[in-house]
Amino acid sequence: MIFSKVRRLAGELTVPGDKSISHRSIMFGSLADGLTEVRGFLQGADCLSTISCFTKMGITIENNGDTVLIHGKGPKGLTAPAGVLDCGNSGTTTRLISGILAAQDFNVTLTGDESICKRPMKRIMEPLSMMGAHIESKYNNGCAPLEITGSRLHGTHYLSPVASAQVKSAVLLAGLYADGETRVTEPYVSRNHTELLLSAYGADVHTEGTTAILRPGNPLEGLKLTVPGDISSAAFFIAAALIIPDSEILIRNVGVNPTRDGMLHVCRMMNGNVTLLNETNESGEPTADLLIRSSALKGTVIEGSIIPTLIDELPMIAAMACFAEGTTLIRDAAELKVKESNRIAVMTENLRAMGADVEETDDGMIIRGGRPLHGAVIDSKKDHRIAMTFAVTALAAEGETEILDADCVNISYPGFYSDLHRLFRK
Ligand code: S3P
Repeated sequence: MIFSKVRRLAGELTVPGDKSISHRSIMFGSLADGLTEVRGFLQGADCLSTISCFTKMGITIENNGDTVLIHGKGPKGLTAPAGVLDCGNSGTTTRLISGILAAQDFNVTLTGDESICKRPMKRIMEPLSMMGAHIESKYNNGCAPLEITGSRLHGTHYLSPVASAQVKSAVLLAGLYADGETRVTEPYVSRNHTELLLSAYGADVHTEGTTAILRPGNPLEGLKLTVPGDISSAAFFIAAALIIPDSEILIRNVGVNPTRDGMLHVCRMMNGNVTLLNETNESGEPTADLLIRSSALKGTVIEGSIIPTLIDELPMIAAMACFAEGTTLIRDAAELKVKESNRIAVMTENLRAMGADVEETDDGMIIRGGRPLHGAVIDSKKDHRIAMTFAVTALAAEGETEILDADCVNISYPGFYSDLHRLFRK
């Protein structure tokens, strides 16, 4: 797909539902008793992988486009699937479902696409094994396919070396079935959608500092839920409006949970003009409309506890930093190397191809802004966030940019290119 410079952006849009919350609504709804009704569900390939896995385990899920109905059967209502469970490209599906499957009274093999079969799964195998789970990596390389033998689980206090909501959530979900309390302590707080949504379903879960605590035994009951817009998808439009001169856009109903809103803080640190309007609450998750106006950006330092709150936005932030005056340092972000692609290497290589001054470090990037960018051929590595980042970057660069495997945006944002195009102004 080819992109070139646009004069300005203007207009309003609503981004699709939050990916993390959409996944969790299916999983928790399946384990609850009774009906769960989800509005604003993200119809991206990752969330459809989660629906497909639970359907194969005997849960009736009606997907009518925007609204999804899940006929939950309670925590012990899942049945053995006929074959392997395919998690596609989705790390969230693979890791969270492992916590649930570890405690069933049947055995399952989990697999996924080429990218999933390279991503680290030891990070969930270790804590789940401490709880009594039996999980083997089929090729003994710490990756999927995973062979999970359902077992009796015990509570644990896991000190996670990484701030990862997928690890935390896998352990908490296993904790629903354990014979005692489960605690997960992280170096920094990661997104807390599992804690919020499980608690809305009736689970006894709370947070103390960087520790999430779950006591098993409470029944889970179906609920009605409206999923807010995904800030990780809004991030591409926020950056686009900031870097393209004379732009002004309004993004309606975006989730601004404080464990996810790091990009908004960074925009302010970079002198970006982002205003929150109509702040409210959607099913326990804070939301707002975001008004963005193009701005003269300046470099900043992004490190420490803010990193988990913007981890998926870092590719777009790195590209945005190329349009800022001065240097931007991204540190403490080694997790970027184990996402859908090695996002430090892929961002550095592709931004350089467009003429940017970017250096790769062990745990981030050094971006010296201010050099004009030019078009290039961008290999997205089939990573949805890389493709969307460069579609936006190309709109502020001279000449043409070709994005390879551009259709990978379907993983998290099927209508991305048409939504972006609708904002173009002459
Ligand atoms: C997610 C957690 C994050 C994030 C991913 C979704 C989740 O991953 O990058 O896109 O829904 O829990 P990690 O837990 O590996 O940081």
